[in-house]
Amino acid sequence: VVKREDLFITSKLWSGDHAPEDVPEAIGTTLKDLQLDFLDLFLIHAPIRIKKGTTPSHENILPPDIPATWEAMEKLYDSGKARAVGVSSFSCKKIEDLLAIARVPPAVNQVECHLIWQQDKLQKLCHSRGVHISAFSPLGSPGSSLPGVSGAIVLSNPIVISVAEKLQKTPAQVALRWCLQMGQSVLPKSTNEARIKENFDIFEWSIPEDLMAKFSEIKQARLLKGEFAVHPLSVYKTLEDLWDGEI
Ligand code: A2P
Repeated sequence: VVKREDLFITSKLWSGDHAPEDVPEAIGTTLKDLQLDFLDLFLIHAPIRIKKGTTPSHENILPPDIPATWEAMEKLYDSGKARAVGVSSFSCKKIEDLLAIARVPPAVNQVECHLIWQQDKLQKLCHSRGVHISAFSPLGSPGSSLPGVSGAIVLSNPIVISVAEKLQKTPAQVALRWCLQMGQSVLPKSTNEARIKENFDIFEWSIPEDLMAKFSEIKQARLLKGEFAVHPLSVYKTLEDLWDGEI
């Protein structure tokens, strides 16, 4: 139905596969599962490492060694198995630390980003260092059962609704269009055909500057905090440690 070159396929290195010797095997499994020769983009899933083969919980957390894992990612880039390599959920500090040692700089930082968590500082840093931001949970993950994510917090925000009404668009379209206008790529999920079509209809119009400015009034909150990684015995003792104060 579609050709390989029409698709941009991203996958992630799971947190249990950070050991440099596990990285080639991990992408090998992914390529086999997806019946592909290469990925367009391969990301370190998070700055969180867990024991191989375990599930994410504080007793399984290990101290990450991002420089060692990154070197293994760079080798995948060299081999052509990943046409670009990047990271996910990295704070400003973690991106700067990585840029300081990387031979191949990360192409992308895929992060939680939406109107309730606009990531101003991270956007400016990544833009100035040539790291593209890709927004996950751009609608605020309204259907999520994750702790701390409570319903349609982005889509029911009164400012988002009022901008949508002025533009005769839906709140979801406004939320997604904001990401595009911030220079991000955007990753909305839907299993519903009508909503998938709605989410695609964001290219032929724009949010004018005066309405874009309204979004700076929205109170900010990180929704996906990663509490599971935080524990007195974990490498991350507090949420501040995990996010380097960006919470
Ligand atoms: P559904 O699959 O029933 O459409 P996110 O991408 O921020 O993680 O959000 C995904 C959630 O948002 C899913 O629960 C999805 O439900 C819902 N969703 C996707 N598109 C829209 C839309 N246009 N309007 C309202 N909810 C949407």
